[in-house]
Amino acid sequence: MSAKPVLWITRRLSDATLERAARDYDVIINHEDGIFTADEIVAMSAKVDAILPCHSELFNADVAARLDARVKIIANHSVGVDHCELPALKERGIVVTNTPDVLSDATAEIAMLLLLGAARRAVEGDRLVRTGAWDFWSPSFMVGKQVSGARLGIIGMGRVGQVMARRAKGFDMDVHYYNRQRLSPELEQGATYHDSIEDLMKVSDFLSMHCPATPQTIGLMDKNMLSRMPDSAVLVNTARGALIDETALLDAIASGKLSAAGLDCFQTEPGGNPAFAAYENIFMLPHIGSATAQTRDAMGFRALDNLDAFFAGDKPGDQL
Ligand code: DGY
Repeated sequence: MSAKPVLWITRRLSDATLERAARDYDVIINHEDGIFTADEIVAMSAKVDAILPCHSELFNADVAARLDARVKIIANHSVGVDHCELPALKERGIVVTNTPDVLSDATAEIAMLLLLGAARRAVEGDRLVRTGAWDFWSPSFMVGKQVSGARLGIIGMGRVGQVMARRAKGFDMDVHYYNRQRLSPELEQGATYHDSIEDLMKVSDFLSMHCPATPQTIGLMDKNMLSRMPDSAVLVNTARGALIDETALLDAIASGKLSAAGLDCFQTEPGGNPAFAAYENIFMLPHIGSATAQTRDAMGFRALDNLDAFFAGDKPGDQL
């Protein structure tokens, strides 16, 4: 019987994922769940045929160049692959896969939570009740921004963006979007297409980011872009922190140009931006868009499906 491929699982994945992986591979599992440095990743690469990492492990050009030739595939446990320098990995002949589709519902749920919580002042309200400081009520108390019937701009109408659009329709939102390519009418489902982001900004009472972080989109939400939004707009980001110029966002919140923001992603992760903490109208979560038990299993299984296909000699379904 031929030996099983050696698979390095860089983080503590779901029990079901680890059980299945251990059945089919000779696994090395990071039970301590710490994050590896570039040198540690390079050192480990000499001992394994495949790596199953998360977005927390960096495979930049330097790491890609130094990975041991033994590694044949990086099967990511994430849809985002901005932590992987794809051209450099391709040059090394390393196959890279991701886990699309399976986290769209969970991520859109968090986007909707952030949108609602930012609009209706969830941080402030929770703090008032929780600390016993709630000693007042009047019709002018904690007045927020109504979601129902408002215009929602979506940047990136891929899988998550499309689920977000459907959820928003449940709140009677008027959905507008920008995407590199216009969707078919069946996928568009009545949403209004804008052929430039600048144009979309003008109609976005709420704006939700659903595009990947690429050289073209990094810093996309800068001072200029934010200034194009209607006054008192709300910005939501569940995609990647790199999309937003955080200084410009702080200025827009401080000036009241934005009435609120909902953020699950930050330029610095883990940790976030401590300057945001001064603003209760910034509703923040620690990058948990896909963090449900069901979705974690589905992400793990999708990554393993890709590995299984690769080691069976087939092209993995999610090869990038
Ligand atoms: C993703 O899949 O890209 C999420 O951000 C979790 O890693």
